[in-house]
Amino acid sequence: MSIHNLSELGTHYLELEEHYGAHNYHPLPVVLKEGKGVYLTDVDGKKYFDFLSGYSAVNQGHCHPLIIEALIKQAQKLTLTSRAFHNNILGEYEKFITEYFGYDKVLPMNTGVEGGETAIKLARRWAYVVKGVPENKAKIIFAEGNFWGRTLAAISASTDPSSFKNFGPFMPGFETVPYDDTIALEKAFQDTNVAAFMVEPIQGEAGVVIPVEGYLKTVRELCDKYNVLFIADEIQTGLCRTGKLLACDHENVRPDILILGKALSGGTMPVAAILADDEIMLTIKPGEHGSTYGGNPLACAVAIASLNVLKDEKMAENAETLGVLLREELAKLNSPLIKSIRGKGLLNAIVIGHENPDASWDLCLALRDNGLLAKPTHGDKIRFAPPLCITKEQIIECVEIIRKSLKTLETKI
Ligand SMILES: Cc1ncc(COP(=O)(O)O)c(C=O)c1O
Repeated sequence: MSIHNLSELGTHYLELEEHYGAHNYHPLPVVLKEGKGVYLTDVDGKKYFDFLSGYSAVNQGHCHPLIIEALIKQAQKLTLTSRAFHNNILGEYEKFITEYFGYDKVLPMNTGVEGGETAIKLARRWAYVVKGVPENKAKIIFAEGNFWGRTLAAISASTDPSSFKNFGPFMPGFETVPYDDTIALEKAFQDTNVAAFMVEPIQGEAGVVIPVEGYLKTVRELCDKYNVLFIADEIQTGLCRTGKLLACDHENVRPDILILGKALSGGTMPVAAILADDEIMLTIKPGEHGSTYGGNPLACAVAIASLNVLKDEKMAENAETLGVLLREELAKLNSPLIKSIRGKGLLNAIVIGHENPDASWDLCLALRDNGLLAKPTHGDKIRFAPPLCITKEQIIECVEIIRKSLKTLETKI
């Protein structure tokens, strides 16, 4: 066993990554080789509950058989044409996803951050050609604490120094207002050059920060009043994670531009998309935006299967019911180490209340040792977001693991 409490084999793989890979991540010391449903298995054969779900990319569960079947079938026929030519899957997928979410058009991309970039480009274009904002004056407003990726545009919108420090200069035309503050938002909207407000319905990376009920509704009203586009980043909150297909559905709010990613492929490959109506989407003309892999036949086939699984297996309903159960059971633990518990559906977090800054990391190590994988975010918060195929019995089993791990830690620190 090494200092990481890993076997020789595990240590071997970890050291390979440390030696040959950039040090841009700080993973929990566990080396995985297989996944099925809610479970992950490490290189030594130890089984764990996955309570991160690839940051909500694996909502449907690891290696869902129907998604993998669609992937293999399409991979044997055609994987990439580029958009220089048409193919027989893209149009079918576009029809399917626009009907699924109720928008006129879709623009397919790969990673989530590209979805964000695309939404912002589209909003700027709309501002110039529809709203009449003078050239190069368009502004995009973001919420403090946002996270939408790591490109230069994304970190230009960030208020987290670990994202942006020493990476400047930054993208002009971006502004932030406090999250969950519609008074500040309305003040920012006084500027007639504002093109859009881009916001997560629940801030995931910030530690599952949930705005007051009615926030999204007021955002919608303000956007209508000031002719500003409402861009919803549902990359982490979407696709049944919070107990509805979209987190915006909790308030019956329809964004002007919807960004999706992560679970759009059930964790198999990078697939993202933005959806909007014609008045907005058709402002981008041929040759003005794209990506070699965006809308590739393999991604389209996988996305259709991933979306079908979510509906057919009633994953929103399961997330809603089991989210309530998880929070109730966690509250019953009455642990002095847990300062608060929050969440919607199966997007949950506990906030650790201990002066030791390593407490949440140590708890994640104890959870790992007891068979559950989770990772701290922003120091003292631990997200509990298992795949949405988890059962009631498994939730109870997981809460028992959490109880046991908290006890270990309580005696240690
Ligand atoms: C809300 C949100 N938006 C965007 C992204 C970026 O997605 P990707 O990592 O696929 O680029 C993330 C990633 O965690 C996210 O949580």
